[in-house]
Amino acid sequence: MTPKTETPVFFLGNIPVKGNVVLAPMDGLSDSPYRRIARAFGSAISYSEFINAQEVFTNSQNLDHQLSFSETERPIIYQIYDDEPDRILSAAEKLMSFHPDAIDVNMGCSVKRVSRRGAGAGLLQSPERIARIITSLKSHLSIPVTAKIRLGWDEEQKNFLEIGKLIEECGADLIAVHGRTKEQGYRGKANWDAIAALKNALSIPVIGNGDVQSVEDIEKMLRHTQCDAVMIGRAAIGNPWLFQKINKENIPSQEIYKVIQTHFNLSIEFYGAEDGLVRFRKHAKRYLDHLPVSKESLLQLLTSTIPAQFLIRLDRIFSSL
Ligand SMILES: Cc1cc2nc3c(=O)[nH]c(=O)nc-3n(C[C@H](O)[C@H](O)[C@H](O)COP(=O)(O)O)c2cc1C
Repeated sequence: MTPKTETPVFFLGNIPVKGNVVLAPMDGLSDSPYRRIARAFGSAISYSEFINAQEVFTNSQNLDHQLSFSETERPIIYQIYDDEPDRILSAAEKLMSFHPDAIDVNMGCSVKRVSRRGAGAGLLQSPERIARIITSLKSHLSIPVTAKIRLGWDEEQKNFLEIGKLIEECGADLIAVHGRTKEQGYRGKANWDAIAALKNALSIPVIGNGDVQSVEDIEKMLRHTQCDAVMIGRAAIGNPWLFQKINKENIPSQEIYKVIQTHFNLSIEFYGAEDGLVRFRKHAKRYLDHLPVSKESLLQLLTSTIPAQFLIRLDRIFSSL
């Protein structure tokens, strides 16, 4: 693992951030086991998976997992989603007992069950709510408040500049922006010109996000947008080396094997054997995706029913490479 640079690249409130690449929040993927690995490899900030404000007041094992983090992950940002400003505030206040470093409000989720009820990207259609959310969080919390937005609801309502300025005026400490509209979902190309325009319009740190897939893309987005950091989602699944700024094709297969084992063991420890095994499948598939592994061996690996079997099959795959 390469040492992280010690000079702050920017500040999250008064917290120095010592890197310019960040793992994106991803429900079902950016859990504590993977964040620990990504952070150790150089991801500069750890975002939780999105947390439903309404669930904060219930007891569930899923919530416990979403809220768990290790000290090595800091700075850790809890990301909340909801459409109700008061509920977001109450949830954030309740979460303070876990001592996160910042609270983020999800204003970008395009999933229908979230956005149609006015949460996630649905908030982009309601600047007045956004103002209430950020203002109340800022006046009640003593830690930084951030937002993750998209460019707007659709092509006709691309209001990211207005929303970004509003969020900044209400006192937020950082904005991450995914360069697509809600309507686009994950289709088309992320608009890096728009990210550049937002960075240019704001004084608070801006993290650019969308379609960064390689070390070259990291540098390209930083140059193109001048944003303070780049956030990587899909391309970072099964590829923590991006946070070391090394392309995966340059990583020896034995190193990949080692990291898969470490990640797998963390997952089993965190979720227990059954759940840990199931949740790790998505990661395993992606760790192996550029290696010459037969469909049959992959299927066998992914359908392992106990951890020991998974590890034996994994060993067989790597011994044959
Ligand atoms: C499986 C999956 C789950 C996601 N979950 C979240 C989430 O919980 N919170 C959030 O703000 N964005 C979430 N996103 C969006 C990503 O953070 C990111 O904005 C998006 O994937 C675009 O970046 P990329 O092109 O690097 O993947 C998710 C994306 C994926 C693919």
